Amino acid sequence: MRRKVIAGNWKMNMLPNEAISFIQELSEKVKDTENEVVLCVPYTDIFYSVLNAQGTNIKIGAQNMHWEEKGAYTGEVSAEMLKAVGVEYVIIGHSERRQYFAETDETVNKKLKKALSVGLKPIVCVGETLEQREQGVTAKIITTQTEKALDGLEPADVEKVIIAYEPIWAIGTGKTATREDANEAVKQIRQKVAEKYGQETADRVIIQYGGSVKAANAKELFEMSDIDGGLVGGASLKAEEFSNIVNYNK
Ligand code: 13P
Repeated sequence: MRRKVIAGNWKMNMLPNEAISFIQELSEKVKDTENEVVLCVPYTDIFYSVLNAQGTNIKIGAQNMHWEEKGAYTGEVSAEMLKAVGVEYVIIGHSERRQYFAETDETVNKKLKKALSVGLKPIVCVGETLEQREQGVTAKIITTQTEKALDGLEPADVEKVIIAYEPIWAIGTGKTATREDANEAVKQIRQKVAEKYGQETADRVIIQYGGSVKAANAKELFEMSDIDGGLVGGASLKAEEFSNIVNYNK
């Protein structure tokens, strides 16, 4: 049985004092869940978030990283740096980074390998635009992104990767994929993993859905056969709402 992993992606929101009170409130509300609870916070919140999440079942993640260990890369943060401050997860290749910060399938692949090499758990994002969906090329886009992201990994490493299927047209728009469409896309991704790395690996890899997930639709999405939880943006900024997503099966 795959575990449900429910991760908040705060994006560029929350000051350290807000992060601290959020974590104090959330930790109380999610203390009895068997689901994995992750908060991917801005770099400036990491230190206080890790400290305040100690002794709770909340894990802290980052939203990006560089693939080199150190060097002349002004403004960048390495996987080693994240690891050293107690980060456990890292989002890689979010569509906003692909769109606004020129991330490519190649940089995503390099970052994924680096994250795994230091023991960070990567959450790699794939997803189609509205235009691609309308053209009927969704399956091709998301399976190609998956293939390129995972290129060169051993099956044992692929099992450690979390894939987030995030249709770009559903991000921050209030439009959610239907549970059938979301499950179908996640199945296509899993099928690609099976083709490349074997069925056993595919059966173990966690694949989330992301895009306008909220407390009101979390249950119907997360109960689908192949959807193993979610990557949540806007609805992860309120502790009450996010706790209701985490506790969807209570
Ligand atoms: P929303 O939940 O705000 O649509 O954002 C989804 C997302 O991009 C999570 O990474």
